[in-house]
Amino acid sequence: MSDAKKLAAEKAIDYVQDGMIVGVGTGSTVAYFIDALAAWKDRIAGAVSSSEQSTARLRAHGIEVLDLNATGPLPLYVDGADECDRHKRLIKGGGAALTREKIIAEASERFVCIIDPSKQVEVLGRFPLPVEVIPMARSLVAREILRMTGGQPVWRDGVITDNGNWILDVHNLAITDPVALERELNQIPGVVSVGLFARRPADVVIVGGQPPQVL
Ligand code: A5P
Repeated sequence: MSDAKKLAAEKAIDYVQDGMIVGVGTGSTVAYFIDALAAWKDRIAGAVSSSEQSTARLRAHGIEVLDLNATGPLPLYVDGADECDRHKRLIKGGGAALTREKIIAEASERFVCIIDPSKQVEVLGRFPLPVEVIPMARSLVAREILRMTGGQPVWRDGVITDNGNWILDVHNLAITDPVALERELNQIPGVVSVGLFARRPADVVIVGGQPPQVL
């Protein structure tokens, strides 16, 4: 599996161009991408990072990390996913970085998603859907999600996001209309963001393999 992740990550370097500021996601697949991006560190203008974890890895390679407020729109965002359907809609947030990931995806012209084949699904929802919540709203949001979807929200106890919030993982969903569910869950007071990337899906999906498949 880690071979597939590495092959997908290295293929994503094809989308990097001289002078670019590159949006960088979070996770084990992205870690390979950051390692590959190190060879480009003198050719790119820097990176915008989606997590403290990725920031540390970027800096360790000597890649400058920039503030999204200072960069404006980005030409490219490279990130992994926990699930991906045939319309390039995703579940993300297994690493609890979904909110910053969503912000960077929204700010980017092209979102290249790098996955191993196990992430491909017919219907999203086998992977529990992460939802970042303001701590005081945790049980309110959990009750609302149960009522609205029938899914079982489970508090990811002990995990605090980079934004100081908590995560609910919603089990037993079969997400037939991801755009609608993303919109509806976003309306619940106390929800910071939902790990469904359906309104703004990936533009390109690279599935690691020999050779990598570009969708
Ligand atoms: C981080 O919060 C997630 O959205 C990651 O993109 C996802 O969990 C990546 O998974 P891998 O570690 O398998 O790349």
